[in-house]
Amino acid sequence: MSHTRKNHLYQGDCLKFLATLETASVDALITDPPYSSGGLHAATRQQSPSTKYVQGGQKKAYAEFVGDNRDQRSQLSWYVLWLSEAYRVLKPGAPVCLFSDWRQLPLTTDALQAAGFTWRGIAVWDKTEGVRPQSGRFRSQAEYIIWGSKDAMPLDRKASVLPGVFRHPVLRADKFHMTGKPTALMRDVVKICERGGVILDPFAGSGTTLVAAATEGYDWLGSEMLEHNVTICHERLAVAASADMALAS
Ligand SMILES: C[S@@+](CC[C@H](N)C(=O)[O-])C[C@H]1O[C@@H](n2cnc3c(N)ncnc32)[C@H](O)[C@@H]1O
Repeated sequence: MSHTRKNHLYQGDCLKFLATLETASVDALITDPPYSSGGLHAATRQQSPSTKYVQGGQKKAYAEFVGDNRDQRSQLSWYVLWLSEAYRVLKPGAPVCLFSDWRQLPLTTDALQAAGFTWRGIAVWDKTEGVRPQSGRFRSQAEYIIWGSKDAMPLDRKASVLPGVFRHPVLRADKFHMTGKPTALMRDVVKICERGGVILDPFAGSGTTLVAAATEGYDWLGSEMLEHNVTICHERLAVAASADMALAS
């Protein structure tokens, strides 16, 4: 059965969810999948997300999340699987944005193209000087948005001019997931979608993409494996909806 619903969050495996979506029904794929990063060797990559990604001084505790311990070969195969299914559900010309860190950049651009998308470039998320400094090393200040489209992307789409670098710090009060993205960042990024379109995030986490989409006037569809995160998504979406209603009244 196909999902014609909009603004729907599915709890479970994204592959099952994507299979329920209608072909050529979605206007943008914007997602922050598990990177399976955090080390040069299999043993370090297979550690828990909190061991790999939480810096020493970070005080707020976040729940562990799943799907972040694949080795390179299985990560590539899995990315191609879900990206191929996402390719099917996107409309021709729809944009795709995938977050990645520096380690997984080559794998992610390979997966995007193997799934059939046209790779168009890389935008930078500059996390600002708030990230931990290390003497004698470059600050690990950037993550990347690998972007492309399903087939040709017309120049007259109803979308704004977007920057190539997004400068947004991670703020404690705005972070609801161990690797949560800033809401302000996602509010900028979702504008790649044609106005009024439907944005898909198969790895919703704490729902930052969905909240950003709703706040910017888009419809959205999402999936997230963990119940704990789904609850946070619903709470955040409710807060965003009431802020919207307060503004409208
Ligand atoms: C990097 S996080 C996304 C964080 C999100 N951008 C935010 O700001 O909160 C990736 C999420 O994907 C979820 N996940 C992992 N494998 C999944 C799968 N097969 N299907 C659906 N969700 C999955 C994890 O539980 C995790 O919450």
